[in-house]
Amino acid sequence: METIRTVAWMKEHARQARAGNRIVGLVPTMGALHAGHLSLIERAKRECSPVIASIFVNPKQFGANEDFAKYPRAFEIDMQKMEQAGVDSLFAPEESEIYPNGFSTYVNVEGLSERLEGRSRPGHFRGVTTVVMKLLQIVQPNFAYFGRKDAQQARIITHMARDLNLDTEIVVCPLVREPDGLALSSRNAYLSKEERKAALVLYRALEAAKNELTHGVRDAAQLQTSLRRKLESERLATADYAEVVDAERFEPVLKVNKPCYVLLAVFIGKTRLIDNLYVEPKSTGSEELVFHF
Ligand code: PAF
Repeated sequence: METIRTVAWMKEHARQARAGNRIVGLVPTMGALHAGHLSLIERAKRECSPVIASIFVNPKQFGANEDFAKYPRAFEIDMQKMEQAGVDSLFAPEESEIYPNGFSTYVNVEGLSERLEGRSRPGHFRGVTTVVMKLLQIVQPNFAYFGRKDAQQARIITHMARDLNLDTEIVVCPLVREPDGLALSSRNAYLSKEERKAALVLYRALEAAKNELTHGVRDAAQLQTSLRRKLESERLATADYAEVVDAERFEPVLKVNKPCYVLLAVFIGKTRLIDNLYVEPKSTGSEELVFHF
């Protein structure tokens, strides 16, 4: 696996990779890799050759009081994991390569970026879409892979690719969980032993929502009340939001009668975790539901 540090080299390398009708896949990451990231690489390996992955802890998607400085960094271990997973090239630029002096151009998906995560983390998605647009522009992959754990992010990036007529197809891959249900996240590393146990309340709350939906509950307010009640039962948990939204615009729904997300953002101690449940009617007008959990 080749490690590439500069934009100029990455562009030239990607240009050569695209030659000869090869299918180029890109897996953008901020490092601190876990099985969720590896599942994106595995999917990319099945569908593309070569597979390029990136590691860049993007300062522009962290708010002033957020965890940019302490975000887990494990470059050597990440490199080994990527190598083992069969990544062909790793793009790992310095901050000054991506944001040189005088950088002042941003990409913002209006509306979608202001709700939920965007409301709690102002400017976050503007940072995400700006860096992802830059990565897509530098590599120009056929496919780029993102996880459904960050459901709103995945939706915003898909929307951006459509609005800006990008040639890259955005692939949204399933969420990966620990055997006990905790959604994989690099931020799980912040949790103490006690908090790790408490963090399971997110999974339990979503499981309870799924159960209610399976038993015929369709009323979003009722679902939200039970989600909040469940979250409040855990002493170390403070809910930021617990909402049922439509899966396209991420706007609140009254009833679950179309593709929806049940979305949670919860502080466990000082660590903010997100998780979600996707639900859609089996077919138009059907009472039967399909879940992605
Ligand atoms: O999901 C992430 O890890 C980041 O938001 C991304 C997409 C790599 C952009 O920095």
